[in-house]
Amino acid sequence: MLMAADGEYLAHVYYGKKIPDEALVGIMRFDESPFTPATNNRDRASYLDTLPLEYPCFGIGDYREPVLRIHAADGTSTCDLRYKGYKITEGKPALEGMPATFATEKSPCNTLEVILEDKPAGLEVSLFYTAFEQLDVITRSAVIRNVGEKDVFLTRALSACVEFDTHELDMITLNGSWARERAVERCRLHHAKQLVDSCKGESSHQNNPFVALCEHKADEDSGEVFGFNFVYSGNFMAQAEVTQHKKTRFVMGINSIDFSWKLGRGEHFTAPEVVMVHSDAGLGKMSRTFHDLYRSNLIRGEYKDKRRPILINNWEATYFNFNTEKLIDIAREASKLGIEMLVMDDGWFGHRDSDNSSLGDWFVYEKKLEGGLKHLVDEVNKLGMKFGIWFEPEMVSPDSELYKAHPDWAIRIKGRELTMSREQYVLDYSRKDVRDYVYSMMKKILDSANIEYIKWDMNRQHTEVGSSALPADRQKELWHRYVLGVYDLMERLTTDYPHILLENCSGGGARFDPGMLYYSPQIWCSDDTDAIERLKIQHGTSMCYPCSAMGAHVSDCPNHTVGRNTPFATRGDVALVGTFGYELDVTRIPQQDRDAIPGQIEKFKKFNPLVRTGDHYRIGNMFEDNTWDAWMFVAKDKSEALFEFVQVLGRPNERSRNIKLKGLDPDAYYYEESKPEEKLSGAALMYAGVNVAKMWNVDGLYGDFVSKTLHFVKA
Ligand code: DGJ
Repeated sequence: MLMAADGEYLAHVYYGKKIPDEALVGIMRFDESPFTPATNNRDRASYLDTLPLEYPCFGIGDYREPVLRIHAADGTSTCDLRYKGYKITEGKPALEGMPATFATEKSPCNTLEVILEDKPAGLEVSLFYTAFEQLDVITRSAVIRNVGEKDVFLTRALSACVEFDTHELDMITLNGSWARERAVERCRLHHAKQLVDSCKGESSHQNNPFVALCEHKADEDSGEVFGFNFVYSGNFMAQAEVTQHKKTRFVMGINSIDFSWKLGRGEHFTAPEVVMVHSDAGLGKMSRTFHDLYRSNLIRGEYKDKRRPILINNWEATYFNFNTEKLIDIAREASKLGIEMLVMDDGWFGHRDSDNSSLGDWFVYEKKLEGGLKHLVDEVNKLGMKFGIWFEPEMVSPDSELYKAHPDWAIRIKGRELTMSREQYVLDYSRKDVRDYVYSMMKKILDSANIEYIKWDMNRQHTEVGSSALPADRQKELWHRYVLGVYDLMERLTTDYPHILLENCSGGGARFDPGMLYYSPQIWCSDDTDAIERLKIQHGTSMCYPCSAMGAHVSDCPNHTVGRNTPFATRGDVALVGTFGYELDVTRIPQQDRDAIPGQIEKFKKFNPLVRTGDHYRIGNMFEDNTWDAWMFVAKDKSEALFEFVQVLGRPNERSRNIKLKGLDPDAYYYEESKPEEKLSGAALMYAGVNVAKMWNVDGLYGDFVSKTLHFVKA
């Protein structure tokens, strides 16, 4: 709920559990000091420094974190937005050139546009709020227009601010590194500012653009939670600030480090979308709301509601060391086992034998792919399999023909040494000519053979950010223009090739964000394919991203990242949660593992509809107890549920575990598929629990890294 305080300042009144009232002015405490002076106009600063504001500006006596700051023609930074009016429109307008959630027939929505103005600065701002009522979701974005005579520079233009009338909150964030992305961290808010951000040019391995603020007592299943997710794939910031009066201001948007945007007369800037989810029943409900929204109102394309082909990717099987014969060998064996698609990963182009060459030269490496790409794809197709291919379209290697011809196409600052990372540079995607060139190369490849899947990778962050095509006063726009360029190319690709399944990837999961989900219905979760490490990674990712979008594969052992040996069955059960596939040399794995593949595939096919459309419940939590994990997928109509359990470490002399299931109908009766005669009420299964050992007819689960699945069906 919003109001125009004093008729001028757009104030935040309330956000939380639904209430029927239209006005709640009492809770604003306008008669309390230090608001009082404002009414007689003596002390605007103390008024503004305590007033909960919807879109706070810098420089007018509100000393908390601003969302808008400018560099005006006279060199000053102050801006002061006052309320001008509002409009309500049906539906949800698209964000030009950027990803955003959309309305569908099943989830109609209305959009509120509140207009603010700063007359001296010549600025007008529209704040957009769309309520997806059935889902307890509000999305936010902002458009800032220069309606004055002079140029104005935005030096900060965040997307949303939410004020909380308390500091009694925990902040949950998803942090990590390469191969251990999105670990859940929770801390109590304290006075001052607590920030997560990225200034790497992508959303990053280190901090995900997700934050949840919740009551201290909130847990998986109870308590009030507010989730925020930024629909953007570049630099971001998300910050909670506890103020002097023990209130909390939360802001989210494009990172203002090295950000500046020139608004000439009549120009505008669009701040990307923030998705806000409210839950009155803990983190689990928050996650399920995000999952529902993203599955139906963000992910697009032919694969949106479809099971994805079971793929085998040759990266961990061969790395750069492959040729046509090797790939066909893998495909031949894979096709016999029921695998549906071969994905040729890095190393098929230019003269790439290691990661130090050829990016940008998107033509076939004939020495490796003897007979050409079409020959390989045709052979794979003849085996009854689809074919997919890897690209890293945003990058260029110093030894490439592309770089030699166009060194100025790399992001760099003239006169400065350019930092090398993974032996490659980043292309200047703010330039249309660069994007057009890369796209024309990709198109040639895509049109040359029957390619049905692309893995779009991105393996380095930005340094020395400068563009040879931008004037000095627009250089700081490059970070954002780059992201817009990436979106532009992905939009072209997915429009021109609607049948191609696009999977995003960034050195594992460094760009697992909702911006990318708008273009690709799945994202490679992490380069760490170890089943046990994946328990944490997938748990953290599920905080706001649907499991059906998580790229997850069964790989070989000892695991290439951590050296761990886990049973093949456990690897399959953990990958089952995601898109599912294989990342190994199927011609060389032990025969017993090979023999298990058809069964795993059958299991995946059976349960994938539940994973894609059901409700996800986290039961175990490896961040709190790393000896076990468990989770469920429950059909929306509660007619069936998949329960998965992993005993991570066997323990001596412990009582076997009773686990309380979640999400079932308490009044219905269920049986486990293998024991139709044993019926138990949903209430018993949820409130008393199931004994995991008894269910599998064993005294106790024995051994490390063992997994089990149970399928409960309504009687
Ligand atoms: C990083 C990805 O995450 C891997 O899966 C693989 O595609 C390599 N890049 C290839 O260079």
